[in-house]
Amino acid sequence: MLLEVKNLNTFYGLSHVLQNISLTVDRGEIVALLGRNGMGKSTTLKSIMGLAKPRSGKVVYGGLNLAGKPPYKIAQAGLGFIPEDRRIFNNLTVLENLNMGAKNQGGNAGSTGQNRWNLERVFATFPWMKDRIAQSGQFLSGGEQQMLAIGRALMGNPELLLVDEPTEGLAPLIVKQVRDVLKEINQAGMTILLVEHNYKVATSLANRVYLMGKARIGFEGTVQELESKPDVKQDFLEV
Ligand SMILES: Nc1ncnc2c1ncn2[C@@H]1O[C@H](COP(=O)(O)OP(=O)(O)OP(=O)(O)O)[C@@H](O)[C@H]1O
Ligand SMILES: [Mg+2]
Repeated sequence: MLLEVKNLNTFYGLSHVLQNISLTVDRGEIVALLGRNGMGKSTTLKSIMGLAKPRSGKVVYGGLNLAGKPPYKIAQAGLGFIPEDRRIFNNLTVLENLNMGAKNQGGNAGSTGQNRWNLERVFATFPWMKDRIAQSGQFLSGGEQQMLAIGRALMGNPELLLVDEPTEGLAPLIVKQVRDVLKEINQAGMTILLVEHNYKVATSLANRVYLMGKARIGFEGTVQELESKPDVKQDFLEV
């Protein structure tokens, strides 16, 4: 097991937005965390990454409990995070944005040797970027910004990538491109915990799925198990 989240509880003020969240991710998997708006999916990723502070529970990674550690320590341990809003630096170029992600080069336990991510490998995955390294972030389309956010996260050589809603707001053709890139980097060895609204995208990528109801996990199982339970889909999803 690469990541084990156990009984995580997170509050925003008085509001108890994560209630005993438990989930696991094995090496090499894509695990999807799905659910309607406001259920706590992003907060789950933020709590794992140290961007929201869990009040109790464990985030066990590489044998260590990282819960409550600062985000930079959690990144050093091998986790990468692509937030919902992508956080591309508008006033930095494509190259500068990528280099911002490279701060962990040499530091992470993640990919080693040939398998390490660097500029060359990012450009091989996203050929358009190479011709546009000098372009400023603000002139990229939504899809390009998402690709850049993925490339930047890869530059940090995480072992486990947390990705929040990567296809949100993108045109269908671009949704497919982002989906295919996630598939490709997973096949190249990246483990992914994916929060996604697009059910088709999520289930075409993931081997296992967790469904979130309000602040809690309501279902866990394989995509096949979920597909055989239309009532569960109806309860937890907009499908
Ligand atoms: N910074 C914050 N301060 C206070 N409440 C928050 C904050 N961020 C989120 N919340 C609330 O916490 C709950 C969980 O939010 P979260 O963003 O984790 O949900 P989500 O499942 O990611 O939703 P969405 O699908 O809309 O992205 C919601 O009720 C939300 O309004
Ligand atoms: Mg969210």
